Amino acid sequence: MSADERQLTAGCLFSGMGGLASGLQRAGFAIRWASDNDEYAAAAFRHRFPDVRFIEKDVCELVAAEGRLAGVDVLAGGFPCQSFSQAGVRAGFNDPRGALFFEIPRILGEMEPSERPRLLILENVPHLLYGEGGEWFDEVQRALRRAGYWFRDSACLVANVKDYTELPQDRERLFMVAASKAHFSCNPFSPSTVERCPESKPRPLSAFIDRERRAPEEAYLPEENRYYKMISREMEEGESPENVYQLRRSYVREKKQGLCPTLTANMGIGGHNVPFVRDDWGIRKMSVDEVAGLQGFKTCEPLFPDDMPETERYRLVGNAACVHLTALVGSACARILTEAV
Ligand SMILES: C[S@@+](CC[C@H](N)C(=O)[O-])C[C@H]1O[C@@H](n2cnc3c(N)ncnc32)[C@H](O)[C@@H]1O
Repeated sequence: MSADERQLTAGCLFSGMGGLASGLQRAGFAIRWASDNDEYAAAAFRHRFPDVRFIEKDVCELVAAEGRLAGVDVLAGGFPCQSFSQAGVRAGFNDPRGALFFEIPRILGEMEPSERPRLLILENVPHLLYGEGGEWFDEVQRALRRAGYWFRDSACLVANVKDYTELPQDRERLFMVAASKAHFSCNPFSPSTVERCPESKPRPLSAFIDRERRAPEEAYLPEENRYYKMISREMEEGESPENVYQLRRSYVREKKQGLCPTLTANMGIGGHNVPFVRDDWGIRKMSVDEVAGLQGFKTCEPLFPDDMPETERYRLVGNAACVHLTALVGSACARILTEAV
């Protein structure tokens, strides 16, 4: 097989259950390895990608020297976003979770120059661009440039899932693509290289919500539950009872225009952020399969090992990068890499 015919490859740091990995696979990449330190992320990833080498480790303990992480064309990393999120404490790189970003350039530095990925695809929240008056982003730029990559704001895509894909989820994310100075004379990635899905008109939410079948009893709110009362009142007064209603800290928010609100990691653990819908049997939480479908995961086969607790399933799905959006960014990168051969 000639160099330009071989399949492009990717490795994933902070892999979670594999949102970035699935999107890159959809874009034609073979996933060579993935890593995360969370036992449930590891179990889900191994379940979904049984043939991919998975390294269950704290990223700070990952060693890339002496070929211990196989060379790949693309290194993907959806590093933790809590410290950069507008909704969080916004401690940025002062938060140890935010500082994990620096493990990416550290790992690149340990790789043999010939093994270093040609492109990096990093995913996070858009506020990383603006936080601390742009200082967070300056730090990211500096660190990636020092590691030997072209990178600046023009190589960033801020995209909403609902505008780029057919998935009706209001989820805005930042994709940053850096290009190796050893392979490129400048960074060939720009938002205009990402082609929106041809059918990017959102499919109706009803296509993702199973209102035909009764869900398990525990999914339904008892009528005497205070959340039931809050949500049903909102449904009576809202735009449509077919919409998704999300519990916020102390109130209920209707997500209008047939969209699903941003799915979050904490949606499975009680009051905050849980998306609810009404069906013929009552008001219930959206199921794990329903929210996974809205993140672009194929739910025709089980996504998780049978013994995985439900709260962990919701958390992993909420934490994941949207598969379809990643596939669009991945396809743009694949075109760049194939043309560059
Ligand atoms: C936003 S999620 C990434 C989701 C993932 N990119 C995807 O596409 O599904 C961040 C991930 O970082 C992982 N993580 C957090 N701290 C870590 C550490 N010290 N070492 C390795 N992974 C870590 C978390 O377990 C979580 O899965």
